[in-house]
Amino acid sequence: MCGIVGYIGTEDRAQDVILDGLRRLEYRGYDSAGIAVLEDQKIRVVRAKGKLVNLESALRDVPVSGPVGIGHTRWATHGKPSEENAHPHRAGTVALIHNGIVENHRELRANLIERGCRFESDTDTEIIAHLIHEERDAGKSLIDAVKRAVQQLDGSYAIVVLDEEHPDSLVTARNGGSPVIIGLGENENFVASDIPAILPYTRRMLMLEDGEIAEITQTDFKIFGSDGSTIQREPRMIQWDPVQAEKGGYDRFMQKEIYEQPRAISDTIGTRVLEEAGDIDLDGIEFDADWIHSLSGIKFAACGTAWHAALLGKYMIERFAKVPTEVDLASEFRYRDPIINDRYLFISVSQSGETADTLAAARKAKELGARTLSICNVHESSIAREADDVLYTHAGPEIGVASTKCFTTQVTALYLVALKLGLLKGTLSHDEVRETIVELRHLPRWVERAANTWDQVERIARRYFQARDFLFLGRGVGFPVALEGALKLKEISYIHAEGYAAGELKHGPIALVDEGLPIVVVANQKGHYKKVASNAEEVRARGGSVIAIVNEGDAHAAEFADEVIEVPEASDPMSAIIATVPLQILAYHVATLKGTDVDQPRNLAKSVTVE
Ligand code: M6R
Repeated sequence: MCGIVGYIGTEDRAQDVILDGLRRLEYRGYDSAGIAVLEDQKIRVVRAKGKLVNLESALRDVPVSGPVGIGHTRWATHGKPSEENAHPHRAGTVALIHNGIVENHRELRANLIERGCRFESDTDTEIIAHLIHEERDAGKSLIDAVKRAVQQLDGSYAIVVLDEEHPDSLVTARNGGSPVIIGLGENENFVASDIPAILPYTRRMLMLEDGEIAEITQTDFKIFGSDGSTIQREPRMIQWDPVQAEKGGYDRFMQKEIYEQPRAISDTIGTRVLEEAGDIDLDGIEFDADWIHSLSGIKFAACGTAWHAALLGKYMIERFAKVPTEVDLASEFRYRDPIINDRYLFISVSQSGETADTLAAARKAKELGARTLSICNVHESSIAREADDVLYTHAGPEIGVASTKCFTTQVTALYLVALKLGLLKGTLSHDEVRETIVELRHLPRWVERAANTWDQVERIARRYFQARDFLFLGRGVGFPVALEGALKLKEISYIHAEGYAAGELKHGPIALVDEGLPIVVVANQKGHYKKVASNAEEVRARGGSVIAIVNEGDAHAAEFADEVIEVPEASDPMSAIIATVPLQILAYHVATLKGTDVDQPRNLAKSVTVE
């Protein structure tokens, strides 16, 4: 999830416009930044590791000057954050910036190396630059070279290409979820990954659709479909104010982040699933099969939402890899005498990678000899740096304090870990993993469909937002979902909410049930349906109101629930990810109706770096 900006104009102002745009995109990634400008008919590239200020300071010493250029802020996916891996990437006369993931990068890179290409970075992006350069060398025009190159790519991309032998245009292409916006000015045109980047310069904009390629000159633009046909599209006037613009047109960051989940999950799966082989590649992390066999167990530590993801991790690892697994709250783990040594794998789960308790727990586990794996969203964060291995979630920056896309991507990443461990342990076959991969490929679309419950859930929220308490119940993988639903609701709406394992209902919580108490029941797990449904009936018999999350087409749910929210059916643990989405939406609407500050709820912080 990177930020991209391109500019083509008359005066030598490419550097200023691009840097200004990148400042508004830095939230998308700050592992590195770079710019390429056509200066005296030659492309000059300046790049710097880390935040944009580092690039700005490099440019203060030696500015670039020219009327055409491209710029990028990076959120690392392939290749660590470094200057060599920073965009733009060059090949011959071509410079290129990219947002997205090329899924067949290994195969393409190997072929290019065989044909004599030399790579200067570990990125998937550099491959695209070489493919375009090869086509240019073979005599193709820039637009044709880009068309032929992108035909070879699997995965998602938004690219902008600059070629010093083609100084009068920029070429951009898009596929699979990474947005490209073209902005039309007076004698100057723009391209960007987000509207806010170019909003101060023009409000006349148009979006590129999947599979399209566009050539942009200083005064004109042409769009082509994947079949080469010319596409006519009228620009529209964007009326956003600057704050709305930052939120991509959504009212709040949390809403934007809920809707970003299909993309975030798809990026987290990315190139890690090898469908043909029925295998999982955890970014090259090597677990020795003998070591996995000799493990005494796996221990997780995490806080808050990440702890809920870890609970799901336990279900998945025990089911698929048959390794005894325990989950600790990081704040408890660090202060007791956990039994852990070099026969344990310790997994920390943390969005920020800076949570003090999780960091301390990971340090303790390492000290006691365990091998440590970090599931983390922020590159080069403390927990990620100190772990033996890291598997990043590719959620992109999460601004809303209430975690949404980071939770669902953590569960997705843990799913991949569980499958890999199962393969190594021999408790899963490649055929079984292949079948799971086929299902996993549908997950982003199912999550998108689950988010389509937005309006229905708003109507439900209107009926219950004045309740004093809420209960959430679930069984199996539905239990951590119930905990997460309750946490989401309480943290942003300030309503008292509790999540329980449905089987615990009769051991205490049922005493709370009285007239009108809303009880959310996670009932989309096939294995537990009947039991959860009878828990719901027990609640209703005592006057409680049941809001049930069930699978699409459930004909019985209306018999035990006052409100029925249908989501796409999937096997566990995907059903847990899917069921979480309407609960995030419920919390969002209840909080909005109560008028709380959804993105920055009282007393909370995005990253808890003190105990
Ligand atoms: O950055 P981390 O994932 O380590 O943060 C852990 C918790 O503080 C975090 O998940 C918190 O519970 C969220 N606000 C929940 O929405």
